[in-house]
Amino acid sequence: MQLDTIIKGGTIVTATDRFEADIGIEGGRIAVLARNLEDAPEIIDAAGLLVMPGGIDSHVHLDQPGSPGIVMADNFETGTRSAAIGGNTTVLPFCLQAKGQTLREAITEYERKAEGNCYVDVAFHLIISDPTPQVLGQELPALIEEGYTSIKIFMTYDDLVLRDREILEVLDVARRHGALVMVHAEGYDTIRFLTDQLEREGKTAPFFHGPSRPVAVEREATHRAISLAEIVGTDIMVVHVSNRQAMEEIRRAQQRGLAIYGETCPQYLVLTEKDMDRTGMEGSKYVCSPPPRDTDSQLACWEGLQQGVFEVFSSDHCPYRYEDEAGKTNTKGKTSFRYVPNGIPGIATRMPILFSEGVGRGRISLNRFVALTSTNHAKRYGLYPRKGTIAVGSDADLVLWDDKKKVTITHKLLQDGCDYTPYEGIEVTGWPVRTIMKGRTVMEDGVVQKRKSGKQLKRTLPRTKVF
Ligand code: URP
Ligand code: ZN
Ligand code: ZN
Ligand code: ZN
Repeated sequence: MQLDTIIKGGTIVTATDRFEADIGIEGGRIAVLARNLEDAPEIIDAAGLLVMPGGIDSHVHLDQPGSPGIVMADNFETGTRSAAIGGNTTVLPFCLQAKGQTLREAITEYERKAEGNCYVDVAFHLIISDPTPQVLGQELPALIEEGYTSIKIFMTYDDLVLRDREILEVLDVARRHGALVMVHAEGYDTIRFLTDQLEREGKTAPFFHGPSRPVAVEREATHRAISLAEIVGTDIMVVHVSNRQAMEEIRRAQQRGLAIYGETCPQYLVLTEKDMDRTGMEGSKYVCSPPPRDTDSQLACWEGLQQGVFEVFSSDHCPYRYEDEAGKTNTKGKTSFRYVPNGIPGIATRMPILFSEGVGRGRISLNRFVALTSTNHAKRYGLYPRKGTIAVGSDADLVLWDDKKKVTITHKLLQDGCDYTPYEGIEVTGWPVRTIMKGRTVMEDGVVQKRKSGKQLKRTLPRTKVF
């Protein structure tokens, strides 16, 4: 065996283990794990560092068109560059079906945008906004067979909302073909009702984004989504859960033996509704959906991560520039929070925030950190064991982590296409110092290599057991 690269002297951490070993890499894959490996053209010194599976962020939006005139701040190049800065080696963005478009047209469009432009590997989820008989009967089953094994659906937003009947139909196709449906659980009519009411009262500042979609809106939709999944007899992933009541809906379903999975995100651990309460449009920098809540909601999200109610921790990176005609403040003379595009950036800050606030403060173990940021994403979305672990035969996708490095988060470090970070000024301990994908360094000490060797991954059905 002629190794290409040896990663020497680090502490290897997986979702289940922690041990000292060198990693021998050959042809982009892990060839051997052993002590005292020698003899390779490239030796990377990992002494004093943690060596973990590269991050997998299974919820990111890149180059996705918003409402007319609104442009996403990251394309595949800038988004995956920032992902590499944050220790990620795989991201799962969404391929959005516009109304009237076939799924095949949507996929062709997104794959063209991604091709040759990615620093890390990518695999697409589908967003279905137009579940025509053709989509449900022919396209979707064929695409699931091809490896597009996860589908996001929305219970709100004018351009995306599905009626309950349509949700049932999508869930049923997913059940029959073994795909997983990710649900954005917020109720359409309740949000419309409250938004109209707030506007009539002149409550239009970004802060009122929160009151337009209170906890009950999310809890009701979460309960309904779970009920619909139960009626069809299939699994769902409830994404971006923000609060205790929604978390408890999922926990109750799990306790009843249903295969309901949960995801939460950094914004629900470290931001609150108070962040949206700033002068002028400044609060729009924190407008995402569901909105950040209160400190008890943060505690509930931690509980969900600790107790296994949530199995994945994703960024929901969905960046819009602040100082930009086509971004957060593009209200075209319309000043209501209603027109602020929903979503915030976070692809680079996801792992450092969970590490510092979670592992650093004793809330989660190092193994749980790896499960939540990498392994469980690979298992749930059909990429395991090629991705998400450190094992012989797996892709050599690794992050070298300095668990003592102190960093004050500031936008300039993140190298994304946005013009701010909602986490500006937050101090973290623990930072990715090197990102290695398929055996080659993508990022070292904040410098991203020029080569864009990220590829589109084929996935299997998401059926591996997650813990
Ligand atoms: O506010 C958010 N989360 N925007 C991104 C789209 C979504 O719903 O995930
Ligand atoms: Zn099938
Ligand atoms: Zn969503
Ligand atoms: Zn999202």
